[in-house]
Amino acid sequence: MKVFHTISPLVQYLDEYRGKSKTIGFVPTMGALHAGHISLIEESVRHDDLTVVSIFVNPNQFNNPDDLKRYPRNPDSDIVMCKQAGASVVFMPSVEVIYPEPDKRQFDFGILDKVMEGKFRPGHFNGVAQVVSRLFDIVKPNRAYFGQKDFQQLAIIKRMVWDYSMDVEIIPCPTVRESDGLAMSSRNTLLTPQQRASAPLISKILFEARNKAHSHSVDELLAWVVDSINQDPLLRVEYFSIVNAVTLEEITQWSDAENVVGCIAVNVGAVRLIDNVLF
Ligand code: PAJ
Repeated sequence: MKVFHTISPLVQYLDEYRGKSKTIGFVPTMGALHAGHISLIEESVRHDDLTVVSIFVNPNQFNNPDDLKRYPRNPDSDIVMCKQAGASVVFMPSVEVIYPEPDKRQFDFGILDKVMEGKFRPGHFNGVAQVVSRLFDIVKPNRAYFGQKDFQQLAIIKRMVWDYSMDVEIIPCPTVRESDGLAMSSRNTLLTPQQRASAPLISKILFEARNKAHSHSVDELLAWVVDSINQDPLLRVEYFSIVNAVTLEEITQWSDAENVVGCIAVNVGAVRLIDNVLF
C-alpha cells in the first residue's frame, strides 16, 4: 500500500494505473477509522482494481471551531487499518495541499442542503461539496463509496455529480452499527462512559418507530420519537424529520412518498450524533 501526502505523485501514480484500463474505487474519509469506514473500503476492494482512501479532516465543513479542534485523529492506526482492509493507496494531504488558496465556490443544491443538517450546520454541505469535488478531480475515480449513515450527504453528493456531470458512479453503503445498535461514528469515541451507555437509545427508538409506522400518523410518530429519546436526560434531540428519501421534503402522510426516511440529530453533551431509518 502506498501513502501520498501531495497531489502530483498521486496523480502520476493513478494516471499510470488508469492507462492499464483498471478501475479505481475511492473512499473519502476524515480518518479516525472504524468498522463503518472499513465496510466502504472492503466494498471498493471487491468491485474495483485499485482502492484509494483519502484521510483529510476538512476544515471547510466544520461550522463549529470546537468540533474541528476536538475531532479525533489517529493517522498511524488509520494507515494500518486501510492496509488490512486491502486498500492500495492512502492520500493524507495537509490543509495547504487541498486549499493552497481559499475555496470560494458556492454550491446550490436547492432544498437538499437547506433542511436538517443544512439548517443546523450552515455552510457544512458547501464545505463537503468543495472537498469532495476537489478530491474527485484529483483521484478521478470510476466509483466512489459513501455511507447511508450520512443520508443527506449522500443525497447531496449524488446531486452534485448529476448537476456537474461528473464522471463517477456513487455507491451507497449500509450503516454499520455497534452490537447495541449505535451507528458507528468517529465521534462516538468522544462520549463519556455514561453518555455512551445512553446513546443506543437513539437507534432503539428509531427501529421501534419503523415498526410503529403503519399504525400511527406521521405527526404522532414525530412526537413519540422526540419524547422517547428526550426521556433520557443525557440526550437532547436537535431535530427529527420524516422526509421523502429522494427530495428530502417533509411528508405529512405516509402516502406522500414511495421512499421515506427519518433523520435525526441528537446532542449528547458536546457531541452531536446523527442517525436515520428507512420506513
Ligand atoms: P467521515 O465521517 O469520516 O465518513 C466517511 C464515509 O464513511 C462517509 O461516506 C460516511 O457516510 C461513511 N460512514 C461513517 N460512519 C459510517 C457507518 N457507521 N456505517 C457506514 N458508513 C459510515 O463523511 C465524511 O467523513 C466527510 O463528510 C467526507 C465525505 C469525507 C468529506 O470530508
